Amino acid sequence: MIRKTISLLMIAVILSISNIYAHEGMWIPILLKKYNIAEMQKMGFKLSAEDIYSINKTSMKDAVMIFGGGCTGELISDQGLLITNHHCGYGSIQSHSSLEHDYLTNGFWAYSKKEELVNETLSVRFLVRMDDVSTQVLTGVLDNMTEEQRHRIINNNIEVIIEEATKDNSYKALIEPFFYGNQYFLFIEEVFTDVRLVGAPPSAIGKFGGDTDNWMWPRHTGDFSLFRIYADKDNKPADYSEDNVPYKPKKHFPISIKGVKKGDFTMVFGYPGSTQEYLPSFAVDMIKNKINPERIAIRQNIIDILIGDMNSDPGIRIKYASKYAGVSNGWKKWQGENKGLKKLKAIAKKQEQEKKFQAWVNADKSRLAKYGSILTDYEEIYSVLAPYKIAEQYFFEAIWKLETIKFTARIASLSRKGAGYTQKDIDGLKTYAKKFFKNYNLSTDKKIFNKMILMYRQNAGSDFMPDFYDFMIPLKYFKVSEEVALRAYTEFYFDDTFYLDEEKFNEFINNYTVESAKKIKATSSYKLYASFITSYLTKISPVTQTYSAKLDSLDRIYMKAQMLVDTSKVFYPDANFTLRVGYGQVDDYEPRDGVFYKHYTTLAGVIKKDNPKIYDYNVPQKLKDLYATKNYGQYAENGEMHVCFTASNHTTGGNSGSPVINGNGELIGINFDRNWEGTMSDIMYNPDQCRNISLDIRYALFIIDKFAGATNLIEEMTIISE
Ligand code: ARG
Ligand code: GLU
Repeated sequence: MIRKTISLLMIAVILSISNIYAHEGMWIPILLKKYNIAEMQKMGFKLSAEDIYSINKTSMKDAVMIFGGGCTGELISDQGLLITNHHCGYGSIQSHSSLEHDYLTNGFWAYSKKEELVNETLSVRFLVRMDDVSTQVLTGVLDNMTEEQRHRIINNNIEVIIEEATKDNSYKALIEPFFYGNQYFLFIEEVFTDVRLVGAPPSAIGKFGGDTDNWMWPRHTGDFSLFRIYADKDNKPADYSEDNVPYKPKKHFPISIKGVKKGDFTMVFGYPGSTQEYLPSFAVDMIKNKINPERIAIRQNIIDILIGDMNSDPGIRIKYASKYAGVSNGWKKWQGENKGLKKLKAIAKKQEQEKKFQAWVNADKSRLAKYGSILTDYEEIYSVLAPYKIAEQYFFEAIWKLETIKFTARIASLSRKGAGYTQKDIDGLKTYAKKFFKNYNLSTDKKIFNKMILMYRQNAGSDFMPDFYDFMIPLKYFKVSEEVALRAYTEFYFDDTFYLDEEKFNEFINNYTVESAKKIKATSSYKLYASFITSYLTKISPVTQTYSAKLDSLDRIYMKAQMLVDTSKVFYPDANFTLRVGYGQVDDYEPRDGVFYKHYTTLAGVIKKDNPKIYDYNVPQKLKDLYATKNYGQYAENGEMHVCFTASNHTTGGNSGSPVINGNGELIGINFDRNWEGTMSDIMYNPDQCRNISLDIRYALFIIDKFAGATNLIEEMTIISE
């Protein structure tokens, strides 16, 4: 008996310790002082909440930015030099690449500022300040309003607040809902649009292991690239000009080359994109069992075609490298997510929570009146919604992303203008088309088109078929199989769509008149595109929209109620691509019984994976030489070159490129991925299995210094070696 008491006691102690070090959560910078800083300091953080976020003095937030459309980056010199992931800079590196200058394969380094490459469409955004504006946003909102009334009032309030916030400055302002609209925050941002490419390692370093290693640990990827922000003479944002000068930031991160040990405090400061931690079991069930399997299957088919084409022709490989990476990234993540949800028994866990929730509701009459039907409402909505959501997936994943459809959509928008088009519209389309054709291979598009049109037909659900399948290609009258009929149709479609040929497109656009709009509308591509849109707008979206308004309201009420059930628990809001802090520690893990994963990898592992026959594993000779001579400079640890490490920070897509910071506020790594076993953390976090994967900053410095010889860049940085 005594033994049992002791072990229970021990468990309680262990539980309370692990509670202190709970790593789940993406926290709001202005609330750290209230909720997190004490715990962070206990875990080894030596600075204050004000050092992370402050509007009265410079703080870390002045060195962290949204990079491009969906990544994070951070400043590492007082001359506007920033670091992010290779996969975040990929689009830019790729856009400067051709067979003659293949920066994807060979890397790119600017040995002086003059050599940096201008990016027309790249921008970065810094947070100037954030404020809780819930009271102002919700002024005039009453509990008994309809969702439309509520939205109207909220939108009006938001407009007023934004106007006020930006009237005397050149900042951008936006307001985002938190906790499903129970709270609102205002974000004031400064946007820089002259951002130049400074350095990128070869893909065989920056994307080492490619899509095989993606989402996996152990990992050996040198996933970083360097850019520089330029400003006008007054250090203010300005579009590209030769006269612009390097931006002088208020703050940049010092870089520690002292190394990381298991148990060290880590903090990730960046822009997590989206999580869904508070969904009911019915929603998790729909995602896991209905949506994920379909989208995995769609992308599997696209991937098979892309791999075949890319392997057969280096030109196609360059054209489709970036697109392929995007497709395969989600495909692999959702598979990991489903495995993780299954292993965690996530649906059963949610059901368990819901039972408790219902008991809490039932215990009180006024709760029963307010929250009594939440769970049954959810159940009903998700059962009705599921087939529509599957059809919607097919529309957006299989059809809407087709290259021919995207291009047609762009051209159709010109034709819709009728006589009202301007020269600017024509020029805009020309620019778009130039980029489109640079990365376009018609026969690849054709194969994917054929497969997707067939998959939609077979799997999207018979209620959601566009009339195209009947009127353009009346499948039921064919004596051959649908497969054969659609193959013949595909040939016809690509012959008929004249503008998919660059020369014909140029001739067409250079001679564009009002009459040309008719020519567009006569193509089978336009007809197919219009038919799919009509079917989406009449058969799918009216239902998904009605229900999503209902869900908005239910989610908001359910969230509020969940917070009332346990008032002692501090909740963190789901990620919404606003600046957040995650904290944890350098840590290893056990993916399965009997398997142990160390918390770091080394260059020796890179060399072991070397395989000249596989593009992503073909280690550059120079790197092999550096390894052979152990020429690691000041960046080695006990004679070894560390490459990546894992830690227990709660992160998600968008956190790529985020600074990983030690207890002294110094940069020790760049976040770039999660482990496969932990990808379900977007829906349910598990401290034993969820790890973020970071590039050890010393590997980046070693590559810049010893591999590329870009000592000009090292000299700009603030390096802390003791
Ligand atoms: N999985 C990482 C993320 O979600 C990296 C993706 C890029 N790398 C790749 N091999 N596709 O963005
Ligand atoms: N690679 C992801 C990104 O680009 C981060 C990995 C994750 O989802 O945690 O944002």
